Amino acid sequence: MANDTDIAIRAEGLSKRFGDFVVVEDLNLTVKRGEIYGFLGPNGSGKTTTMRMLVGLLEPDHGRGECLGLDIRTERDALRRRIGYMTQHFSLYGDLTVEENLEFVARIYNLPAPVKTAQDAIRELGLEGRGDQLVSTLSGGWKQRLALAAAILPKPELLLLDEPTAGVDPKARRDFWEHIYELAADGLTVLVSTHYMDEAERCHRIAYLAYGKLLASGAGDEVIGNSGLSVWEVSGDPGDLSDLAANIRDEEGISMATPFGTRLRIGGPDKNALDHATQPYRDDSRFRWEPSPPTLEDVFIHLLRDAQDNRAVAS
Ligand SMILES: Nc1ncnc2c1ncn2[C@@H]1O[C@H](COP(=O)(O)OP(=O)(O)O)[C@@H](O)[C@H]1O
Ligand SMILES: [Mg+2]
Repeated sequence: MANDTDIAIRAEGLSKRFGDFVVVEDLNLTVKRGEIYGFLGPNGSGKTTTMRMLVGLLEPDHGRGECLGLDIRTERDALRRRIGYMTQHFSLYGDLTVEENLEFVARIYNLPAPVKTAQDAIRELGLEGRGDQLVSTLSGGWKQRLALAAAILPKPELLLLDEPTAGVDPKARRDFWEHIYELAADGLTVLVSTHYMDEAERCHRIAYLAYGKLLASGAGDEVIGNSGLSVWEVSGDPGDLSDLAANIRDEEGISMATPFGTRLRIGGPDKNALDHATQPYRDDSRFRWEPSPPTLEDVFIHLLRDAQDNRAVAS
C-alpha cells in the first residue's frame, strides 16, 4: 500500500462479521491529514466497529488499512501510541478523581512528569480547584471535556471520536467543536462519528454508512450533488400534509417524504419520475409546492431508504 504522507487513514475493503451478521462490508475510506472527517449513519450501521478496527482493537476479517502509515493488523502497538480514541461512553474511571484519571493516562503512555502533566491539563481545561472531584460526580459536559483532554494528553496525530457530543448540551457542543477546530488547525486529523446534522456540516468531508456499507462520501456539497436528488417543499394544513405524506411515500419515483417543521419535503433521484409522481397532487389547491435545494439530511434519508429497498430485494 502506498505510504502517502498526506494520508492519515486509508482503508481498503475492510469487512467484519459477528457470527452470520455482516457488520462492516467492503469499506473503503481515505482521510487526509489535518482533515475533520465525519462518520454518519443510523445506530448499528457499523461506525464503532470500523473505528475499533482502525485503532487496532479489532481485527478485520478481510481488507486492509493503514493509519499514519502503520498497518492496522501488524503495527498495532506503534499505532496505538500515535492515535487518540475517545469511546462512545467516555472511558473514564468514575471512582477516580479528575486528576487521577489524567495522571493514569499520562502513566499508561509513559509521559514525562505525569503529575505535572495532569495538573497542566486541568488548568487548560478550566477545571482548577476541581482536580480532587470524583469523575462520577461531573456533569455530562465536563465528562466529555475531560475525556477529550485525556485522549489528547499523549499528543496523538490522529484522533478518533465516537459520538463525542451525544447527550451533551448545545453550549458544550459548540465549545467542543471550537476546540476540535483549534486542534485540526494545529495539524491533528480527526475522525468523528455523530448523529447531529449541524455537526455533519461542520466536517470537511463526511462518509455515510448504513447496514455496514458506505453509501456516500465526500464534502457535504459533493454528497448532495452526487445524490442527484430533487426536492419539492410542500406547505399546507398539517393534517392534509400528513395524509399527503402517507399517500405519496410509496409512489414510484419518490424516495423521501419527510415532515420538516410545518412543511413536507418530497424528493427522488429522477426529476422526471418525481414530477410525474407528484403531478396529481401539485394541482391540489390545498397545497403550495415549491422546488427546494436538497439538504444533507434529505440525502441521508433518501440513501437510507434506497439501502433498505435494496436489502429487501437481496434477502
Ligand atoms: N462484539 C460484537 N458482537 C456481536 N455483534 C456486535 C458486536 N459489536 C457490534 N455488534 C453489532 O454490530 C452492529 C454494528 O454495531 P456498531 O459498529 O456499534 O454500529 P454503530 O456504531 O454505527 O451504532 C450492531 O448491530 C451491533 O449490535
Ligand atoms: Mg457506535
